[in-house]
Formats: sequence, structure tokens, C-alpha cells
Amino acid sequence: MTRGSACGKIILFGEHAVVYGRPALAAPLMQLRARALVESRAAPGIVVHARDLARTVVLRDAPVDDALARITQLTLEKLGVNANLEIVVESDLPLASGFGSGAAISTAIVRALAAHFGKTLSPAEISALVFETEKLFHGTPSGIDNTVLAYEQAIRFVRRAPPDENEITPFVIARPFTLAIANTGIAAPTKITVGDVRCGWEQNGALFEELFDAVAAIVEQAQAALARGENERLGELMTRNQRALESMGVSSREIKMLLDAGLRAGAGGGKLSGGGRGGNVIFHIEPRDAEKIKQALLDAGAVSVMVTEVGRET
Ligand code: MEV
Repeated sequence: MTRGSACGKIILFGEHAVVYGRPALAAPLMQLRARALVESRAAPGIVVHARDLARTVVLRDAPVDDALARITQLTLEKLGVNANLEIVVESDLPLASGFGSGAAISTAIVRALAAHFGKTLSPAEISALVFETEKLFHGTPSGIDNTVLAYEQAIRFVRRAPPDENEITPFVIARPFTLAIANTGIAAPTKITVGDVRCGWEQNGALFEELFDAVAAIVEQAQAALARGENERLGELMTRNQRALESMGVSSREIKMLLDAGLRAGAGGGKLSGGGRGGNVIFHIEPRDAEKIKQALLDAGAVSVMVTEVGRET
């Protein structure tokens, strides 16, 4: 039996605008992982069991848009192999919550299959395979999620066409910083919010381009602040990024409630992270305030709160 795993991701700054060629900063979330186990089976065919989804997919019978079947098929083609296989996937990452759960499951499958056949795939190759399934999940993905998961590094990402020309640059975090990540408990498929932003952009191009430019400027300032260790600027920059996301229409009442509670309890600033409308809200906090802020977020309705340090491992 061989195993593969993948971490989750957090977008620090720049989601949605990144779909339109603006830069974004994202970091791996090492505590939460998706895992895949691969073993040979005597019976013919390939079967994928997704424990958390209570789903079993038989490759031969799967619809063309089934992500589990597609990533398995694409990886086997890439590796130039075929076999009768049983694949089991499980994940700590809540679905549709901004942690990149779909991309993490796909990445874990690619890694486990490569290990099973004793082959090595580069992060760029893994990322390219997973990008194909990201298209199934949300139509016009920027490619940031699959990139962070494949490289497991904090990266600045700029989408380019074709995707193999995307700009992928590790960014400097001079001083590690602490995030509180509050889960609204609302599963909000990225496909919907990405689609809604596209509608907004089609109807009101000038306004949305302005919002994307404003986000790009915030990303530049955040990157410079992180490089200089000026972490005290992060909260304010997050809050400004959140305002732009609100204007794009991807926030929600629940996100706003958590933001208000976190700020009242002493967070430096915060924003939604990922697709929005649900999922996660992130806050820049001082470690000494962690317990107080965590409790305030739980009291305000967060289903879980994680406190994590970013930058120690990069
Ligand atoms: C989703 O994690 C991030 C979005 O910017 C979509 C994308 O970049 O593909 C909302």
C-alpha cells in the first residue's frame, strides 16, 4: 500500500482579483491534510472510495466531470501506466470552506499514485494535473490553489495564459505572524462566487477592474510589509482587502458577524479567505490575544477556530 498526502491552503490577500491577472499571496496550511492510499486489487478496474463524502467511484462508469475519476485517469496517463487499483481518500479539510479541499484531495491522489508506481513528478507537473480538476470544481480557476498545494510554500501567484507561464514566486516572511482562522460552517462552492464575480465584471467592467487594481495595490503593500517584518500593518491591509471583497459581493452576513466579533476582541484586522459567502474568515492577531479572540469568535457563531503561525516553515 502506498500513501500520498497534501496540505490545505489559506489565501492571505488577493482572492478573486487573482482570477483577473492580479497578484495574490497564499500560504500552505500544514495542520490539515488530505490523504490517499493506493493498493493493487485482484478484481479488474479502478475504484476510488472517498470516505468523508461516503462515495465510491468506479472509474469505468464515472461521468466525465467526476473529479476523483478525472484526476486518477489523468495521473495514470501522465505516468504511462495502467493497473487494477483500489484508492481510498480521506481529508481533515472541511469541504467548500476556503481551504482548497478539492485540490488537496486531488494532489494527494496524484502523489499516492506516483509513489505506487515508483515515479517522481515535479511540483509543476503535480500542479498542472490538479489544475485540470480545479476547472471541474470552479470553471475559471486562477490556479493558485493547486500551485500552493503542489509546492507547499508561501507563494505570490500571478495568473498568466497559458498556465505554464503563471508567475510563481516564494515570498519572504521576515517575521512569522499569527492568524486566527474562523470557520463560518457555511459551505460555499467557489464555482458560485467566482461565477458571480464574473457576472459583475461583465456588467460593470470599470468598477470591477478598479476593485481588482485596489486589491493588487494591497497585495504589493502586504508583500513589502511581510518582507520588512512590519507585521503590525497586516491587520489594516486585511481589512482593506475585505472591503474590496464586500464590494465584489462575495462577503455575507455571517462573515461580517465574525469579523466584527474578532475585531472587537482585539484582532488587528481580518478578511474572508478563499471564495467567500461562507468558508473561512482570517484575522491577524497577537499570540497573547489568541484565547480571548478564539472564544469571541466561537460565541459569535464560528463552528471552529484554528490559531496558526505562518512563516515559521517557509
Ligand atoms: C479560491 O481559493 C480563490 C479564488 O480566487 C478562485 C481562484 O483563484 O481560482 C476565489
